[in-house]
Amino acid sequence: MKKTVAIDGPAGAGKSTIAKLVAEKLGYIYIDTGAMYRAAAWKVLDAGVEPTDENIVDVTKKCDVRLRFVGDAVRVFADDTDVTESIRTPEVTALVSKVAQLGPVRAKMVELQRSMAKDGGVVMDGRDIASNVLPNADVKIFLTASIEERALRRWKEMKAKGYEEPMEKLAAEIAARDKADSEREISPLVRVPEATLLDTTGMTIDEVVQKVMALCG
Ligand code: CDP
Repeated sequence: MKKTVAIDGPAGAGKSTIAKLVAEKLGYIYIDTGAMYRAAAWKVLDAGVEPTDENIVDVTKKCDVRLRFVGDAVRVFADDTDVTESIRTPEVTALVSKVAQLGPVRAKMVELQRSMAKDGGVVMDGRDIASNVLPNADVKIFLTASIEERALRRWKEMKAKGYEEPMEKLAAEIAARDKADSEREISPLVRVPEATLLDTTGMTIDEVVQKVMALCG
């Protein structure tokens, strides 16, 4: 039977790396819900409008956010623009939690996410997957790591993409985003009681993938 796997957790916990590898091993589709909120934030910046709540909702409502297969890889589109790389810039990261806290933005994304998962065979990662998007998911995992380790991972990821950002700045940005995501009114980041807590501090990617695969067994 094809299952649905929900992976939630704070920024930089390694959710996308792990979810992608687990999906590959299971032959499932990987759905990166953070990328969808990032695409909306990218569109707001691209539109060049003041990022007020009203403008964000307006731009997002008109924007067709989609995850599409191009060959074997999933790419992120905002209307007809492939934004897979451009949604990872510090500017998008700085805006995304503001975009993601708005009810109409979330309603649109959650509807898309549920329709993508309706036939099962998906690994979906985000903040509210087990608690809201897929409350009946077969496997629920809450992935986390210490703030120092998460900042270090993000530093390495950004460096590989050509961004040299001070570690303290990244740690502060991660802490601020965690706070915004955990304290927002609509579908905050939360660990549902039935989710398995996986603290990946000091673990290799392989070790985490093995643990998650065992939970999917
Ligand atoms: O990869 P990283 O940990 O930086 O974050 P992400 O998964 O790309 O998500 C970016 C942002 O989107 C988060 O900080 C949340 O504000 C928002 N998000 C959300 O609200 N709900 C989700 N299911 C996924 C992401």
